Amino acid sequence: MTEPVLKIDDLHVRFPLGRSLMDRLQGRPGRVVSALNGVTLELFRGETLGVVGESGCGKSTLARALVRLNTPSSGTILHEGRDIFVRPEISYHRRVQMMFQDPHSSLNPRMTCGQILAEALTVHRMCNPDRVPARIAELLELVRLPQDAAGKLPHQFSGGQRQRIAIARALSVEPEILVADELVSALDVSVQAQVVNLLLDLQQRLGLTILFVAHDLRLVRHVSNRVAVIYLGRIVEIGDSESVFRMPVHPYSRALLSAAPSLNPDERGKADRLQGELPSPLNIPSGCPFHLRCPLATERCKLERPALRPVAGRGEVACHLSEEIANAQ
Ligand SMILES: Nc1ncnc2c1ncn2[C@@H]1O[C@H](COP(=O)(O)OP(=O)(O)O)[C@@H](O)[C@H]1O
Ligand code: SF4
Ligand SMILES: [Mg+2]
Repeated sequence: MTEPVLKIDDLHVRFPLGRSLMDRLQGRPGRVVSALNGVTLELFRGETLGVVGESGCGKSTLARALVRLNTPSSGTILHEGRDIFVRPEISYHRRVQMMFQDPHSSLNPRMTCGQILAEALTVHRMCNPDRVPARIAELLELVRLPQDAAGKLPHQFSGGQRQRIAIARALSVEPEILVADELVSALDVSVQAQVVNLLLDLQQRLGLTILFVAHDLRLVRHVSNRVAVIYLGRIVEIGDSESVFRMPVHPYSRALLSAAPSLNPDERGKADRLQGELPSPLNIPSGCPFHLRCPLATERCKLERPALRPVAGRGEVACHLSEEIANAQ
């Protein structure tokens, strides 16, 4: 692997909810959603890093922070050594592009596909005005849409085609990093594969780096070189995708990934099922945040928060028992 393009260090994102009437009557401070609680992560050039975790674990908050839609309460994100919130490179907002799950809300319904692409090319001054039509034609070809697509409105396309337009728009500004948050989650399975394979093909041809957030674990396994498992706003395990999916170490990863349908019968049913509900990010449990649901929890786990640390022959894991678990596998 090459040098990191992004370095995320101890990132915290909080959402203050304000004070309810009850809070005010009882003299309590307003409540705060702790969506990210110290994420440290490097994104390497040319890789696809998958991010998985239950709904509400902070995946979208992390994705949005990378494009500065969420501001951290503490911690840093460095791009080429510069803090993206304090003194970003002037072209940062062009070089890191986000694609959303719902193209209905991200594509202006009153603009044709051609106008949407022309706008992106013009705002970012990507080419001379007289070159715009030719560049639109190239982009449509790149995402395998017919040339007459330029004259149509978003509602005249299928869901999969709309995501191709979103990809074309992101690529129009020649980014280096794509942040895909549930990019294909709303699509039929057969269409998902086409869009994801297109993305992988473009990644290879254009040398893109991708953060791929999805709750569909099979999809993440298919596309990712590395995978980060996130629980209550913290990374609990990160490593090579094949290794993490085949032999997850952290009890949360084991439960989460065992719930995923596997194509390999040897891998089915090896780990414990995920028990209980996700605790509220308004009130993160003490010690190891997973201890209330962990079948292996000990007294120590209730008190002491495990740090994310390397485990021999595996990736990095945040569990007091990582070595014991890894050795027993
Ligand atoms: N703007 C916001 N205001 C208040 N809470 C938020 C906001 N955005 C996200 N959250 C909360 O932060 C937590 C993490 O959310 P999110 O990052 O969307 O999780 P995921 O994408 O993994 O489902 C959730 O509890 C969610 O309700
Ligand atoms: S630190 Fe303890 S509670 Fe947390 S995952 Fe490991 S064994 Fe379970
Ligand atoms: Mg989300």
